[in-house]
This record gives sequence, structure tokens and C-alpha cells, in this order.
Amino acid sequence: MPAPRLPRRPFRGRRVVLGVTGGIAAYKAVTVARELTLAGAEVDVVLSAGALEFVRPMSFEALTGRPVHTSLYPQGDPNLHIRLARDAHAVVVAPATANFLARAAAGMADDLLTAVLLATEAAVVLCPAMNDRMFAHPATAENLRRLAGFGYQVAGPAVGPLAWGEGEGPGRMIEPEEIVAHAGRALEGATPLSGRRVLVTAGGTREPIDPVRYIGNRSSGRMGYEIAAAAWRRGAEVILVSGPSALPVPVGVELRRVETAEEMRGAVEAALPDADALVMAAAVADFRPSDPAAQKLKKEASGVPEIRLEATADILRATRHARRPGGVVVGFALETADAVENGRRKLAGKGLDLLVVNDATEPGAGFEVETNRVVLLRPDAPDEPLPLMSKAEVADHILDRVEFLLGLAVGA
Ligand code: CTP
Repeated sequence: MPAPRLPRRPFRGRRVVLGVTGGIAAYKAVTVARELTLAGAEVDVVLSAGALEFVRPMSFEALTGRPVHTSLYPQGDPNLHIRLARDAHAVVVAPATANFLARAAAGMADDLLTAVLLATEAAVVLCPAMNDRMFAHPATAENLRRLAGFGYQVAGPAVGPLAWGEGEGPGRMIEPEEIVAHAGRALEGATPLSGRRVLVTAGGTREPIDPVRYIGNRSSGRMGYEIAAAAWRRGAEVILVSGPSALPVPVGVELRRVETAEEMRGAVEAALPDADALVMAAAVADFRPSDPAAQKLKKEASGVPEIRLEATADILRATRHARRPGGVVVGFALETADAVENGRRKLAGKGLDLLVVNDATEPGAGFEVETNRVVLLRPDAPDEPLPLMSKAEVADHILDRVEFLLGLAVGA
């Protein structure tokens, strides 16, 4: 039986003010409100007068299950802006028009949203959206600089097709899933990983047999991609060295694509000296064809080929010299028998601070599934088996340990 998909509401108990101002991208704010709500947040939508030209309150009310606010002084509630500002864990403005940015940069409080912004101490994310010429104007650039100086996160704009048939350019609002990721990072606040550099490897490698064939494995990359996304959400700068994977690149993460174990070794070696933590979630090939053919192997010319293999470098061992003192190194082990015993050997042999072991024979664990059941091993500490959970939750458990270990290193 396939493992059930576990419900995950990472923003539960978190309150987000979603400000929507008057641009055509306001229609995408409906999706943002829905996704934030599905992630567990209580979403208070504030629509500016301009936004009401594009979207109606009822769409947001239906999706958030909460009243939508449009007025600075709703009847009998002159204090609404202070309450919203105080209760919010994050304020997200999407879209943020040029006019809104100018008013916010000037510290104005002439409508509900600008008043909330001025009154809040919550993390603020602004998602600009406007015509490319309005974005390019020095006034907008200056306003954005000023707003960033207030500590607000400016997310976007993206380059892409603009509304009103205006062609392509910078000015397009970033996509709802990116906005939700930025909201997640804002909600997380400061963590021990904030500003730290985390290097993650993911996916399987491909070792060429000839120009069109390779030896590979079934790794989807999901575990490493979840770790990269979660580390960014916790405020880290993340480099993700990935073998071929069909997964979307996590928001905020710097992706370095590689194919072979040797390319992955090179990418890890280059980034490792600057990394506070290395999480080696990749399924690296242990062997590769020793003499890949320069031309495609033809069955008629050569019959059934024999492929001779040679060992690849063990990346964790081969890059030990490049580790930063005090840096935390996490490995993974996929076993099919004697998982913990084999894991303990790898922990010591590869010089790891943490090893995440999973037994591929257990249901819901291993490759190509969204769940995992792992045991965490640390030197001089008892085994720590975790129950079956989503890979996103496993990622959070691993990063909790990385934060703890980094804390130990700082204190040492
Ligand atoms: N690893 C690595 N370089 C390799 C192979 C593996 O750095 N050439 C890393 C993996 O990314 C993982 C850890 O080492 O974090 C353990 O991988 P695993 O394949 O379980 O270990 P191996 O040493 O290859 O042992 P086995 O004989 O069980 O395959």
C-alpha cells in the first residue's frame, strides 16, 4: 500500500497581512491568499482602493474564511490598523505598485495598508509589479532602495510578459508560489541558520557509457531539494549542487547543475571552504565506466559490449581537506540490511557529524516517494529513530540538528 500523503501546515498559528494594491497582478494575489491559508496561516487581506478596481473582496473572503479589510476607518473600529499591525507575524504586499512603493517609502499612512505598514514590527515582504518603464524610473529605484533600507524584503519583480500587450521586461510580479516561499522565510524570522552558508547536494549522478547512454540511479533529488528549500526558509544562503532532476529549483537557492560524480566532486570542493554546513543528500555513483566510448555503441558492429567499471572518488572523503573548521557535515546512507550498523561505520569513516540512515526495504522510505523513515546517528550519541514522515519534515529535523551542532561549534 502506498504511504499516505501526510498533511503539512507549516504556517499554522501564524498571521499574515496580505496587502493587495491596484495592479493587474492583483488576480494572482487570490492564489497567494489561498496557498497561505492552505499552509495553515490566518490571512487578513487588505485591499487598497486601486486593488478594488481589479479584484473583489468576496474571492478573498471565501478562500481565507476571514473578513477582508478595505477602509482605514471602518465603522466603529478606528483602531483596526493598529490591531492588524500588532497581530501580524508577516506583512506581504503583492502586488506592490509604483504608487504604493512611493507612499510607503515616504512613510505615508493615508490608507489602511500604508498605516499597517507604518505601525507593524513584523517582517515585511514587498512584491513589486508594474510596467517596465515605471520600474526603470529612478524614482522607483530610489524608493525600492529606501524600502530595503527599512529592512523590508523586496522580492522581484521578474522579467517576463507584461500586461496590456506591453511586451517583455522587468516589472512582472513574481509567481504566487515564490511569494509564499518568501512569506515562509519572513515568518521564520531570525534562526541560527540566518546568514549561514549551507551547501546541499541532491539527486543521482550519471556516468556515461557512450554519448547517449549512462549508468544512473533512481534518486529523484527530493530529499536534497527539501533540505535546500528549508535551509533558505531559515535564512541561510544556500548552494544546491544537483544531479539531473525534474524538480523545480527551490526559491532563493543557487543551483549548480552537474552530471557526473566527478563534476559533483569539483562543485563540492569549490564551494565547501565557504560553507558552514554540507548536507550530502546526493546518491553518488560509486562506479563509472572506465573507458566511455566516444561514439554511440552500435549493436551490429560490436555485439554485446562489456563495460568495465572503475571506482569514483568518495566525495565526502575526497573533499575533507576543504572543510571549514567548525563546519557541520551531514551524510546520508541508504541501506538494505543492517542499516544502523553500516551507518555507524560510515559516520566514523567519512568524518561526519550526523548521518541520516534509511532502510530502502521499509515501506514509505527511500527513492521516489514523498515520505521517509530515518534514523539519525551522531558520534557519541544514542541512535535517534524518527517516525514515518514527509521528506519536508525530515528536512526540518535534520536542520534542527545542524543548527544545534553549529551552536556547539560557536560555543567551542
Ligand atoms: N557519497 C560520496 N561519494 C560517493 C558515494 C557516496 O560522497 N562516491 C556520500 C553520499 O552522498 C552519502 C554518503 O556518502 O552522503 C553515504 O553514501 P552511500 O552510498 O550510502 O555510501 P557508500 O560509501 O557509497 O557505501 P555503500 O557501499 O553502502 O554504497
